[in-house]
Amino acid sequence: MEQDVIQSQEQASTPHSELLERIRQYWNEHIHDLEIAKHPVGTLGFFDDLDEYRFDKLRYLPRLVDFNGYKGKKILEIGCGVGIDLVRFAAGGAIVTGVDLSETAIELARKNFELRNLQGNLLVMNGEDLQFPDASFDVVYVHGVLQYTADPYQMAREMHRVLKPGGEAIAMVYNRLSWLNALSKIMKVELEHEDAPVLKKYSIKEFKAILAPFPKVKIIPERFPVKSRLHRGWKGAAYNGIFVPAFKILPKPIVRPLGWHLMAFAYK
Ligand SMILES: C[S@@+](CC[C@H](N)C(=O)[O-])C[C@H]1O[C@@H](n2cnc3c(N)ncnc32)[C@H](O)[C@@H]1O
Repeated sequence: MEQDVIQSQEQASTPHSELLERIRQYWNEHIHDLEIAKHPVGTLGFFDDLDEYRFDKLRYLPRLVDFNGYKGKKILEIGCGVGIDLVRFAAGGAIVTGVDLSETAIELARKNFELRNLQGNLLVMNGEDLQFPDASFDVVYVHGVLQYTADPYQMAREMHRVLKPGGEAIAMVYNRLSWLNALSKIMKVELEHEDAPVLKKYSIKEFKAILAPFPKVKIIPERFPVKSRLHRGWKGAAYNGIFVPAFKILPKPIVRPLGWHLMAFAYK
């Protein structure tokens, strides 16, 4: 498992900018969760499909993040993808900016905002080199991005720099010591985006090291097994029929540290 945080030979020798370019190309071609949408890409039905799937899978998210609780606050999302979470912040009255390396993602995010008559400043930008002055935002939101970028330490420094004093950073990375990482190795089932140029998993300690610029950090492991629509065949049946119900009866204090998503709430 240790090897998950060690860069491959190829990755280590790739100049940083070249690696970022490969990351951009990958995400231009692999919009997150695209395969589950039933409606044509770029339609309101498409964005609603993605929203429905995401919030069914990530039931913890609206419990931990009050999307309606930031009215009038300036929020930056790094790696906003097609803007599924960002439209929720905007609908709740936040003043939102979304950046992503991928042109395709930003194009679709603009469409998502337009179809919902919402305002958002959506820009193609590298989250490791933000083109915003210091102390520009009340909140920086980075869900499922630090683990896919070339240098997560640099991204965390940028998150800290653009936050106002007292501001809040909300971030999620994958937990290396989790039920899903273990299950995927035992069952030999690939995780989503395992073919991405960078995909790393971190322990709580490693995640805290990335967030070292922040004086106060709270980490909450989340994302426990729920039935999956993606995996079929006997592995899907065993997962949905045996593993998910069995996991549900285990006491929460025992399984809590094994959550697949490490949610961090960090303060400047
Ligand atoms: C797994 S997707 C997550 C998208 C969205 N945050 C979500 O939770 O659905 C990862 C996203 O991070 C973006 N990304 C990766 N590295 C980035 C960087 N250095 N700067 C900006 N965006 C980046 C990718 O282009 C991709 O859209």
